[in-house]
Amino acid sequence: MKKTILLLLFCSIMIPISAQKTFEQKADSIIALMTLDEKTGQLNMVTGNWEATGPVLRGSDDKVKLLKEGKIGSMLNIRGTKHTRDMQAQALSSRLGIPLLFGLDVIHGYRTVFPIPLAISSSFDPEAIILASRVAARESVVSGIHWTFSPMIDVSRDPRWGRVMEGPGEDTYWASIMAKAMVEGYQQPFDDGLELMACAKHFAAYGAAIGGRDYNTVDISMQTLHNVYLPPFKAAADSGIASFMCAFNEINGVPASGNKYLYDILYNTWGYKGLVVSDWGSIGEMVVHGYSKDRETAAQQAIEAGVTIDMESNCYSRYLKQLVEEGKVSEQTLDNEVRKVLVQKYKLGLFDDPYRYCNPEKEANEILTPANREAARDVARKSIILLKNEGLLPVEMPKKIAVIGPYAGAKRDMDGNWTVATDKDVAVTLLEALKTRYPGSEISFAKGFDSKENNDRSGFEEAITIAGKADIVLLTLGEHWGMSGEARSRGDIHLPGVQEELACKIYETNKNTITLVMGGRPMIFNQVSEKAPAILYTWWLGTEAGNAMLDVICGEYNPSARVPMSFPKHLGQIPVYYNRKNSGRPSVDAEGNYSNRYIDIDYKPRYPFAYGLSYTSFEYKDITVSKDNDRILIKLNLTNTGDYDGKELVQVYVRKLWGESTRPIKELKACENIFLKKGENKEIEMSIPCSGLRYYGQNGWEDGKGDYKIFVGRNAEEMIFDTEIPVY
Ligand code: GLC
Repeated sequence: MKKTILLLLFCSIMIPISAQKTFEQKADSIIALMTLDEKTGQLNMVTGNWEATGPVLRGSDDKVKLLKEGKIGSMLNIRGTKHTRDMQAQALSSRLGIPLLFGLDVIHGYRTVFPIPLAISSSFDPEAIILASRVAARESVVSGIHWTFSPMIDVSRDPRWGRVMEGPGEDTYWASIMAKAMVEGYQQPFDDGLELMACAKHFAAYGAAIGGRDYNTVDISMQTLHNVYLPPFKAAADSGIASFMCAFNEINGVPASGNKYLYDILYNTWGYKGLVVSDWGSIGEMVVHGYSKDRETAAQQAIEAGVTIDMESNCYSRYLKQLVEEGKVSEQTLDNEVRKVLVQKYKLGLFDDPYRYCNPEKEANEILTPANREAARDVARKSIILLKNEGLLPVEMPKKIAVIGPYAGAKRDMDGNWTVATDKDVAVTLLEALKTRYPGSEISFAKGFDSKENNDRSGFEEAITIAGKADIVLLTLGEHWGMSGEARSRGDIHLPGVQEELACKIYETNKNTITLVMGGRPMIFNQVSEKAPAILYTWWLGTEAGNAMLDVICGEYNPSARVPMSFPKHLGQIPVYYNRKNSGRPSVDAEGNYSNRYIDIDYKPRYPFAYGLSYTSFEYKDITVSKDNDRILIKLNLTNTGDYDGKELVQVYVRKLWGESTRPIKELKACENIFLKKGENKEIEMSIPCSGLRYYGQNGWEDGKGDYKIFVGRNAEEMIFDTEIPVY
């Protein structure tokens, strides 16, 4: 009797454990059944035929046939519960019926479009970033999408690069915070069990392309790679991100898609367990780089480096089986990558129910909802930077309003680039928002200039005329939405065409002119900067753009965003960024010769990193800095001394004064967005862990101990306190 009870007890314990085979064990049980064709199939990602986000290869095979043969493991650019269900059904009809993964570039929203990532970055508000990512994730998973190719966390110091619009800007510390927030927003499972895979891209240093030219060569020191470009990816890996994506570029002679140095850091140093997907065709492009002898070699180099999935180069589908059969690649190497794909499919529950993301009812009820639009409006408000205000803002909107510029009514432009799922006519423009909010006002409109015809002045007269008759002018300037994004680098980042010429005439005609500059990057507009009474930088704000702009113009929201990437005064300054090295002869404000200044232009940016104005003012008092065990402690008292509730981005920068490697003159190491009601004050306490001072030096990683200068600043150029402190 006793033995029976013990046996039953043993079985009752063992069965759940045996039933709790790990995902890896389950994956291995399938791998054991797979042919080489089926294994390489799992590492093959192809696009849907009707929406390519890259050059579609000639003669692409019949994809349905490949699906039925189990030769495709994932697809991109298939969206909607109907289409994904159809494609999934094809894959399930294969011998082993392994379900597909569906990926999509949900970069700043699915159907409810949020501000472009560089704009959201300017909010310096992790909660806003999480909210935007969360809404995007929900709208994606109810539309059949398992995987977003986001966040793009490529730090960049070059606004000529078209893809700065997708990224976090110039600062490594803030980019790391943004990466963590986006992973949290994207990957947190929903109550119904649906969850989205995120993807850290582009690994790595894509933002360092020479000349700001997309896909161009990256040639940087190991110190710069480790101290500037890799940390946001480490933050994403530490946050449990499901995947990484290779960058197109080479780094110091080795393309990222076959760069063993990079993937040794990812898999072995960081202990990453997720998968890596190539960028579109990037494995095959290693031949074009002049790195791989041929496409077969490229396939071998990529799989040996640890690239799991081949997106659209067909190198894996064409050569991997042959490489294994010829013994050039071990089947174990292949199995290791196949396992990563199958584990993800288990994690998403696709083996239990391959159609669990294909619920038409959820899709019909959870997209572009009023709550999602309100979230988009909230994040958009927080992404508007007040660059200048000579007392004009905020305004009580008067009777006669002149609206000038093509972007005031341009629905498509409001979404910016990288909106692969949205309807192009959903966004609320400034004009629409005005008419809805002020139905009794006399609102006149003139294009003034054409967003694509650069030297056409034929609209000037009408614009000047309506400006002269109005109580207030809303002037919209900027670059066309398609002038930033992938393969959209610009050699000249001035406001295009004759816009500034018109703007100056408008300012002469009506002093009550509010200028709204829209675009996907920092641009140069010195005449506007100097002559405009008020300037708001509104980027591309997405579905609720017009309402968010008016919320700020009318004072319903006090602007709180800050510059995420320095605005140059002159093209010749680029790259211009705040965390520069000092050199032995730093630029000085006086006419100092023999310094690293220019003799013909100002070396300082027009708007520095973290610059941004408010309708209110803040006073900092009682600032103290101390070493407290394993952290630097900063305390201060902050008061809202103005007439509006508002947010202040309190920033703490550090400078290591000397050591075995020179270090930047300042680096952001702590920042906090503090909301205070007018008149309110608050004791603020911030800290920097000493581990956050580690850096990569001449001989690898250093602990960062040394003599420091600690700054508290309002932006990267405006320090309001500094002190020196030994950190040992
Ligand atoms: C593009 C982009 C990448 C995107 C991928 C899929 O070329 O570089 O960011 O995720 O292809 O569309």
